[in-house]
Amino acid sequence: MSMTMTYLHTFYVVRDDPTNNVPDNIFSKLGVHLHRRDQHPLGILKNAIYEYFDTHYSNKFNKFDDLCPIVSVKQNFDDVLVPEDHVSRSYNDTYYIDPQTVLRCHTSAHQAELLRTEYTHFLVTGDVYRRDSIDSTHYPVFHQMEGFRVFVPEEWEASGMDATLFAATDLKQCLEGLARHLFGAVEMRWVDTYFPFTNPSFELEIYFKEKWLEVLGCGVTEQEILKRNGKPNNVAWAFGLGLERLAMVLFDIPDIRLFWSNDERFTSQFSKGQLGVKFKPFSKYPPCYKDMSFWINESFTENNLCEVVRGIAGDLVEEVQLIDNFTNKKGMTSHCYRIAYRSMERSLTDEEINDLQWKVREQVQSKLNVVLR
Ligand code: DAH
Repeated sequence: MSMTMTYLHTFYVVRDDPTNNVPDNIFSKLGVHLHRRDQHPLGILKNAIYEYFDTHYSNKFNKFDDLCPIVSVKQNFDDVLVPEDHVSRSYNDTYYIDPQTVLRCHTSAHQAELLRTEYTHFLVTGDVYRRDSIDSTHYPVFHQMEGFRVFVPEEWEASGMDATLFAATDLKQCLEGLARHLFGAVEMRWVDTYFPFTNPSFELEIYFKEKWLEVLGCGVTEQEILKRNGKPNNVAWAFGLGLERLAMVLFDIPDIRLFWSNDERFTSQFSKGQLGVKFKPFSKYPPCYKDMSFWINESFTENNLCEVVRGIAGDLVEEVQLIDNFTNKKGMTSHCYRIAYRSMERSLTDEEINDLQWKVREQVQSKLNVVLR
């Protein structure tokens, strides 16, 4: 059975499940596989990272780029030790197909199964899904690459370092080399952080256009993950990076929606399949702003609002921004949101925007139960 068939099959089975919070506009992104197009910025970047690993590790890393994004809650969360009460498990943050099945929110969802199947060096690239706010750098579907490397005792014993320090040192060297491969001579820094699946955990930042930019998360894999998956005497490192984030910087792409564009003025610019091309924006069409104020209720969340707006306006919505927020004497809270509508491809007419805004107002009331002011 083809991948697409499998997806559709799963979907039809669960379509009426009341816990399913995956709208059609998100579901239609499954199987698009932007990261598998060699002449798309995401595919070009994936290939450039592959090239780094192939040359530095003589093809030792196994590559996966078509693992199904529909995974179990166990794979997405439990297997990588995400705590029961972690926000990422909520229906507000993650797309659930049913109570046990999600659209993966990170490629880390595949660590455990690949370890169990005896892979020790692997790269997993794929589309990941998150309910989120709307602006030029956030889109509910984006792409990540996960890297994973397992060491055997002889490797760290020979170094005289303890296993964790050995893995952390190797990890940092590997990723600094990757950043230089992609960005050339850049200034970098390591920041300590927290992930449930690694300890210690780090973020790599690079200095780019006068700003420190977080490019990836990584760390030494929790021993518990190795133990549960048949590797109790090993040590490992892992990293996860967001392809859009890096590609926006490398190719000068100003808006994350462009990755999904079929407009030839976008796609044709990457026909050489090479890193280093700077995107030349075609004319920017004017944005149109619409404000909307309402009294919120306890269950209101910005992510839910953004889902409603995107369900109606799709990629014509550029940003949803909270511009006013106050609570009156009775304890009622009012929010005012500004919605920016803009097409990447054409001018929008007043009529079209008014029509969208009218539908948004209607659905915000009926689906979110808020009271418009
Ligand atoms: N899964 C993390 C995320 O989505 C990224 C990540 C961080 C992956 C650290 C890793 C890791 O494998 O070790 O934000």
